[in-house]
Amino acid sequence: MNYPDNFMETLVSLAKRRGFVFPSAEIYGGLAAVWDYGPLGALMKQNLRREWMNRFVHSRNDIVPIESSILTNRQVLVASGHEKGFSDPLAECTVCHERFRTDHEIPKAKDHEHQLTEEKQFNLMFKTHAGAVEESANLVYLRPETAQGMFVNFKLIAEAMRLRPPFGIAQIGKAFRNEITVGNFIFRLRELEQAEIEYFVPPADAEKHNAAWVEEWKQFFVDLGLNDERLRVRELSPEDRAHYAASNTDIEYEFPFGWGELAGIANRTDYDLQNHIKHSGKDLSWFDEETKERIVPYVIEPTLGLDRLLMVLLVQALHISDGTDGREAGEMVLKLNPKIAPVTAAVFPLVKKEQLPEIAKTIVKDLREAGIGYVQYDESGSIGRRYRRQDEIGTPWCITVDFDSQTDQTVTLRHRDTLEQERVSISELPAKLKAALKA
Ligand code: GAP
Repeated sequence: MNYPDNFMETLVSLAKRRGFVFPSAEIYGGLAAVWDYGPLGALMKQNLRREWMNRFVHSRNDIVPIESSILTNRQVLVASGHEKGFSDPLAECTVCHERFRTDHEIPKAKDHEHQLTEEKQFNLMFKTHAGAVEESANLVYLRPETAQGMFVNFKLIAEAMRLRPPFGIAQIGKAFRNEITVGNFIFRLRELEQAEIEYFVPPADAEKHNAAWVEEWKQFFVDLGLNDERLRVRELSPEDRAHYAASNTDIEYEFPFGWGELAGIANRTDYDLQNHIKHSGKDLSWFDEETKERIVPYVIEPTLGLDRLLMVLLVQALHISDGTDGREAGEMVLKLNPKIAPVTAAVFPLVKKEQLPEIAKTIVKDLREAGIGYVQYDESGSIGRRYRRQDEIGTPWCITVDFDSQTDQTVTLRHRDTLEQERVSISELPAKLKAALKA
């Protein structure tokens, strides 16, 4: 599937101009692979978190949420194998001193042949110190995955919530990785956000649950509106798998720069719990009433990067008009799923005259009370300009109050994707948009 020329540049520039994503601390030159979410990016992320929580926590009996800490006791990451094994192979060019991952293709330099040093393993975890003294006894890590918080709390959670396998723990939160090669907008970050589930199962059922989670995870993306043709499921070879995984399946998306991992499903077996049992000396086993056996459950882990998902949704949504769809050539529209769009509806008085602004503000209030999402009021510029502004940020519905609205209590409802306009009674608007959001 083809992308227009300069697609990524257009997207990154739109994301910045309209307040989705900015380079972090840009006024100081930014910080490599660290980005800030502007107002619309923040709204969109909140929508994504809500959809994910609704789907995998609120609508199920078997998955509970937690929020574990980012600062991580070093012993956790010693036990999990991250201190020893969470590394990428790295070599440095002795001419330009740039560092490269040797398991990735190394880009050529314009003015010299890279002279690479011998390969070294580079640990990706960020370290810091807890307390006033910077000594190795105080060393703590910023977590490189949210997963470990779910393993170390497994027993407490199972007991507190009276859960027995199969059950899951879900968490959304930040993770930190000192990536060597970065780039491609928010694809590879040093500060990232993950949405992960650790699903604890009887060992004999692990493969069955693994296969089911691959399907569930993929369906979540399709339901968010991702194009099936740009998604593929790939089983990783033993060399490509994470150090803890007995099997690892990636869900990949076809970006303008090629296929890239969006999410993964791993069978982590009892690797993590066994290691935490060994290092902590605590019992993390579970007594199976049916088989009368004490066992350590296996763990199936569906995981995804929320930043990557947001990027994929923007990539998928951006349409640049060729002038044949009712828009002028070059005009941009983000065809986002209404549930995810940062602004759900925008309300405009046609002009700032008579009762039009008051009626529009009452509609805004009614829509907000109906809980349809974020609603914007905009009275500046021509109606055409206001529509274009909303198209560029993906607002599915614009509502215009005109002079007739004062007498017949109706407004114009404009649909982003079809450009269709219909007259709708003001009193019916909240229920109509709520129903459309559920569809
Ligand atoms: N707990 C398992 C785990 O962390 P992972 O494949 O390393 O597995 C999970 O990461 C997801 O997090 C990936 O599928 C990807 O979407 C996202 N991710 C990983 N590294 C990332 C990075 N540097 N920047 C942005 N997202 C990243």
